[in-house]
Amino acid sequence: MMSEFLAHKEAYNVAVVGATGAVGQTMLEVLAERNFPVANLVPLASSRSAGSKIEFKGQDYVVQDLEQFDPAGLDIALFSAGGGTSLQHAPRFAEAGCYVIDNSSAWRMHDDVCLVVPEVNLHALEMAKVNRIIANPNCSTIQMVVALKPLHDAVPIKRVIVSTYQAVSGAGSRAIQELAEQTRNLLSGIEAEVNVLPARIAFNVVPQIDVFMDDGYTKEERKMIDETRKIMEADIAVTATTVRVPVFYAHSESVNVTFEGPMSPDMARNLLADAEGVCVVDDPGTADYPMPSEAAGTDPVWVGRIREDKSCANSLSLWVVADNIRKGAALNAVQIAEKLICD
Ligand code: A2P
Repeated sequence: MMSEFLAHKEAYNVAVVGATGAVGQTMLEVLAERNFPVANLVPLASSRSAGSKIEFKGQDYVVQDLEQFDPAGLDIALFSAGGGTSLQHAPRFAEAGCYVIDNSSAWRMHDDVCLVVPEVNLHALEMAKVNRIIANPNCSTIQMVVALKPLHDAVPIKRVIVSTYQAVSGAGSRAIQELAEQTRNLLSGIEAEVNVLPARIAFNVVPQIDVFMDDGYTKEERKMIDETRKIMEADIAVTATTVRVPVFYAHSESVNVTFEGPMSPDMARNLLADAEGVCVVDDPGTADYPMPSEAAGTDPVWVGRIREDKSCANSLSLWVVADNIRKGAALNAVQIAEKLICD
């Protein structure tokens, strides 16, 4: 049994940093849906939206300016307001005694910060007792490791080749608006403006998420590689191609996996059918497979198209879909918060 993180209380003081954003809004929804015991809720954002109102459980709350806010008395803060904001403010919250669950990439690869997906590596959370900062992994990494861990526990994984088909909501609420506006404009014969994403996304597929690095990979691809190894096992070989597609919610991934030994599609299907947080939808006979249109707004990681890769020994191909804002961000963060309060 894991020992306690926070002293037991009837309800806890919770801040959501980035409460006006796409992930922050879903964090509030998930806290409410799961009946997280909230005593005081504090929505925080930049000075731009300080003073505006957000709703939580039918009540209005005034958004406060993060810069001016004193975190004393908070128990848990869910951060989703960008890496710079987390780097600057997470330590200030942690020093005030508050557990920070950070959805940005700022702290994920720090040696003394744990990177946690509750279904996969809950044991890593112990480390949070030292510095009270917990990193929520990248959305694409979360759904992939939830699907791979039950397989890896049965037969160790040697190598993973992943290609992603990522929804625009992963780039925030302005990217959601950009896809809608570009689509409307192009259908009306008006030129599409590109302001948020690196290229036009409506009626297009963009093989760039985040910035390029010296080795030709993007930062998103690097995150998937490094984070998978930190969460699962350092010596798994991983390569990734991350791609933005004109979908609003839910990321899809084509995942090719090579194991140390035999793993049949049926064995994988059975392992995944029993795995926490996974739903298998895999019936070629009835053309049943997971899709973003159905995964959006749901909690599980959906897996289908499980088949043998006949081009390589001990290899399988899978199709993995999950709501990037829920399991890929807000839900995973709230699940971590639940572990901090359970005795
Ligand atoms: P604001 O509404 O004040 O801009 P999204 O990812 O959907 O774009 O949302 C980003 C979230 O992060 C928003 O809630 C935004 O608040 C918040 N945010 C961005 N920059 C800062 C900052 N410097 N300090 C606090 N919150 C910030």
